[in-house]
Amino acid sequence: MELRHALNTNQFNLQNLEYLCSLADQLRNEADINNLANKRAMLFFNQPSTRTFLSFQSACHLLGIKTSEIRDPSVSSEAKGESIEDSLRTFASYVDLIIMRSPTPGLCEKIANMLDSTPLKVPVINAGSGPDEHPTQALLDLYTLKRSMRNEGGITSKTICMVGDLKRGRTVRSLSKLLTHYLDVNLIFCSPVEFKIKQDLRETLQQANINFIETTDFKEAISQSDAVYMTRIQDEYDTQDNLSTIDTSKYHLKYDHLSILKPTCKIMHPMPRRLELDPKIDQDPRAQYWRQQRNGMWIRAALISFLLDETRDFDFAFQ
Ligand code: NCD
Repeated sequence: MELRHALNTNQFNLQNLEYLCSLADQLRNEADINNLANKRAMLFFNQPSTRTFLSFQSACHLLGIKTSEIRDPSVSSEAKGESIEDSLRTFASYVDLIIMRSPTPGLCEKIANMLDSTPLKVPVINAGSGPDEHPTQALLDLYTLKRSMRNEGGITSKTICMVGDLKRGRTVRSLSKLLTHYLDVNLIFCSPVEFKIKQDLRETLQQANINFIETTDFKEAISQSDAVYMTRIQDEYDTQDNLSTIDTSKYHLKYDHLSILKPTCKIMHPMPRRLELDPKIDQDPRAQYWRQQRNGMWIRAALISFLLDETRDFDFAFQ
């Protein structure tokens, strides 16, 4: 399959990551980037979203792209028993790009394959696929790390600590995979044992030869890190495993912890936050999570303009 979609983090390498980040920098510095005014995009969000939806919508509007949306399947033909494949094939008749969030891992790949077998080869962007992947969140996290560390030698040789529900949080999975492309990065995964990373991610990181440790020692982990990436407990995926009864308060970043963080530590969170990130920290110059949101709009604009650029070089971009 010709890779013209953004479906998972395996599609990215150092070269295209660096390219997209520099394209995002370039777009935010240009006065007029409204050059895709003849294009239309469909936002199909079948799972709750505030930031990602608005970020994609804003990115499209910055580029001049007109958007339509379905956020509630109960008001579309899915409620009449239409398959998701037929619904998305219908959208492809009207638009030049499909951006989709769904609770089903692998659905984006399935839809992209299906569309590639039709005359309407519309690019698909994964805006979150269940507990599996969230590639554009990873792009914006990486872009934020790069920008915030640009006077500190960039991402190379940095220690990045991920905290929270590492088992079901898709943002941690996707960001960890992108970080394997940067030299000498150390990852610390800090969580209660019940929320440790899944074995498939462990294996991917081992194969990529990236240094990582798993720990329950929150204070030790955050004090030695150049970035602390906080995440919430993903209790929408709770089953009968009683994970919701586990006390995670030991893994909350509180105002008092600021004194043990490195003076240049980047504090990040994909949002939405709950108790794991104290709002009193918002005023600290090390907090990056509001910048992350702004950066998200620009890196998504870069990705969209790249995917819709009919002159782009696929071989360079996605290997
Ligand atoms: C994240 C997600 O949806 O995975 N949110 C987001 O897209 N910014 C994180 C979360 O919901 O916890």
